Amino acid sequence: MSPTTATTFPQPPAPPDLAVDGTALSLTSVMPDLAVDRPAPSPVSAGPDLAVHRPAGRPPIVQAPYFPALDPAVEWLRDHRAALRAELLRSGSVMVRGLPVADAADFARARDVLIERPAGYKEKATPRTDFGEGVFSSTDLPAAQPIRLHNENSYTLEFPGTLLFGCLVAPEEGGATTVGDMREALRRIPESLRARFAEHGWLLVRNYSDLAGLPWQTSFATEDPETVEAYCRENVIGHEWLADGELRTRQRRSAVVTHPVTGEHVWFNHFTFWNRWTLDADVRDVLLDTYGDDGLPFDTFVGDGSPISEAEAAELDRVYTEVTARESWQRGDLLLVDNILSAHGRESYRGDRKILVAMGDPVPLAACRPLTPPAAPAAAPKE
Ligand SMILES: [Fe+2]
Repeated sequence: MSPTTATTFPQPPAPPDLAVDGTALSLTSVMPDLAVDRPAPSPVSAGPDLAVHRPAGRPPIVQAPYFPALDPAVEWLRDHRAALRAELLRSGSVMVRGLPVADAADFARARDVLIERPAGYKEKATPRTDFGEGVFSSTDLPAAQPIRLHNENSYTLEFPGTLLFGCLVAPEEGGATTVGDMREALRRIPESLRARFAEHGWLLVRNYSDLAGLPWQTSFATEDPETVEAYCRENVIGHEWLADGELRTRQRRSAVVTHPVTGEHVWFNHFTFWNRWTLDADVRDVLLDTYGDDGLPFDTFVGDGSPISEAEAAELDRVYTEVTARESWQRGDLLLVDNILSAHGRESYRGDRKILVAMGDPVPLAACRPLTPPAAPAAAPKE
């Protein structure tokens, strides 16, 4: 194991120029130089007729014109697709407000304009309702449970490059789908932690169960243990069957990756979301009492198997809080998210809430120049 000195990243490729408002905008200006302070961008036009508002603390927002029906709204989306995608590469997310998107079929039509290719949902980690045609509920986790920022499927060897969320029913209170710029998160993480993660990556340990988390039959979409084993072998996941027939898996992944188009380094993982220290203390105590120290449905470690302290987890959590942008949902809103530049999460909420999600533009991890190669550790992390 080489000694940890400082975070050194390989040089990213030259970034492409991004045409915004007819002017070439060099992404060099937003390359991660590890400087924390950046001037807040002012509203700019991302193309003809498309004003992008960038209020502080909120995702960029585009107000669509009024359309009495979906057909002209879809045409409008098609006309502005390139500008919206350009904004997405620049800001990591963009909300489109005011379209007559009223059901899953409407949402699928918008998705077909904005996202080129569908991406599957593998190694499921959250309960979702399937509305067909690649449209799901964003999550069926209880309303009281906030979800910390994470990059979708950051633990799989291929993940969606783009996510599209849509609001059919806005909650009475809370319930925003939060987003956070993971370029900025990487800059803000304390150097000592960043260096550990840059060298070792992060380790995910999952225990599958009917009682906590998801059963392996749901996560791997099969009833056949041999199919799970073959999947694990092909996808660099360590697995063991436990005495009760349940499954435990371990997978090491890079904590920092490079965006395949912009060449920017980003913090890309589920580390904080699934770390034991970010559970409510009461919940953590009950889970540890019930399932034991290595039996949590999800737990995360530094990639060498070492834990982080409660104080370090709080530092990572603070960074997520600092970079979180949120906008309350309104019926018909669409939120386009670059799953590599941005993490997403969910606030707790009250009232009915129906948020759809579709995933697409799959990206292989190998295209993101992981700093740490994937690995399948066989042994439990040591205390
Ligand atoms: Fe998610």
